[in-house]
Amino acid sequence: MSGGRLAIIGGTGLTQLKDLEITRREVMHTPYGEPSGPLTIGQYHGHEVLFLPRHGSRHTIPPHQVNYRANLWALKNAGVETVLAVAAVGGITDAMTPGRIAIPDQIIDYTWSRYHTFFDGNGEGGVTHVDMTYPYNEGLRQTLIFGSRELELDAVERGTYAATQGPRLETAAEIDRLERDGCDLVGMTGMPETALARELELRYACCAVVANRAAGRSDGLITMEEIARNLAGAMDRVKRLLPLVIGRCREAEPT
Ligand code: HPA
Repeated sequence: MSGGRLAIIGGTGLTQLKDLEITRREVMHTPYGEPSGPLTIGQYHGHEVLFLPRHGSRHTIPPHQVNYRANLWALKNAGVETVLAVAAVGGITDAMTPGRIAIPDQIIDYTWSRYHTFFDGNGEGGVTHVDMTYPYNEGLRQTLIFGSRELELDAVERGTYAATQGPRLETAAEIDRLERDGCDLVGMTGMPETALARELELRYACCAVVANRAAGRSDGLITMEEIARNLAGAMDRVKRLLPLVIGRCREAEPT
């Protein structure tokens, strides 16, 4: 894996990176507006990391109002080349049980009305279509997978992420439809984040954490308490995985 800085985009349940020894906070202004907050820069288990909580440091920005373009542009312009995105999701298929980590390999976009591209046709590049056959960086995905094997985290090593609009949760019928479409996980932030990362040629992969069984996949209703409880347990494992993965990313770099 090559050089450039490394960033973590934190999702619900990861609005702060406790072990980050903060050296700087950088407020970025972008042509697309303000990112979710300043970039927090510091040493994380011996490596430099930039941290950006997607929903803001106090978790106040709902998924459909996240300024994804500003977030990705700010990271790119800070010299970031590698982005580890952490995201809370609902589990659709049987393997996706609450608390489990999953490393998706595909994504389907069901979001609408979000600013979803840097290529609006008015830039120098004119009309551009980026390849999205494999939406996540496979090298980074494999680093996550090998890290989770080493720590015996029992992660699900592939799966299709359904990106829904939110902020409401889905109906049971919508989840049935997503499953028929081949989706294993459902979350509200995977798009346009994944596509924008590709447009900026960032090395991007997602560490998804199952917060709940998706609508209609368990007996009861989905509560915020349930989501918070499951995430709190799972984030301990994510916080063990991240330093290992970041170390591996840095080791593999040419000097
Ligand atoms: N659906 C969509 N997004 C989510 C869910 C869900 O069930 N759980 C956590 N994020």
